[in-house]
Amino acid sequence: MTTMEILTYPDTFLRQSAKQIENIDEKIQQIINGMYETITVNPGLGLAAIQVGVDKSILIYDELHGQEKQLLKTLINPRIITREGTLISENEGCLSVPDLRADVKRSARILVEGVDEKGSPLRIEAEGLLAIILQHEIDHLNGTLFLDRISALKRGFYKKRVKKRLKKDGEKK
Ligand code: NI
Repeated sequence: MTTMEILTYPDTFLRQSAKQIENIDEKIQQIINGMYETITVNPGLGLAAIQVGVDKSILIYDELHGQEKQLLKTLINPRIITREGTLISENEGCLSVPDLRADVKRSARILVEGVDEKGSPLRIEAEGLLAIILQHEIDHLNGTLFLDRISALKRGFYKKRVKKRLKKDGEKK
């Protein structure tokens, strides 16, 4: 298995909504394996299939989130069932939005339902950092980036920065 390319802003594919998976077949297993390889090479706390150019409702997340070891879990067709409270996710970042860290308002506690890679139902009650990771990745599956949830001023600066870089790269060619 090879690693997959991580799409970055402003790639329009990141705006796609992921499709529900009806049948976890070999092709889906291969995508999941590729996502595991990709997140091992590009360390992150989570990865959504949309980020590697696959419009399927799959995300993986690190259950130990940021501790020394990684414990990657797969979540298919995730849905947020309930939300409670708010918290500020400090310095959130994203592999698809390089060189940006910003605070994001998130729900403090969520209940998420979906299935694992074997199709068994999963029900995750998450709070704190795990709740943040799951909200971030589920956002990806709906075509939303954390960039959309930060202050308009910061977003504007970032967009300008990316435009400049793309222009520069274009001139080099
Ligand atoms: Ni992300």
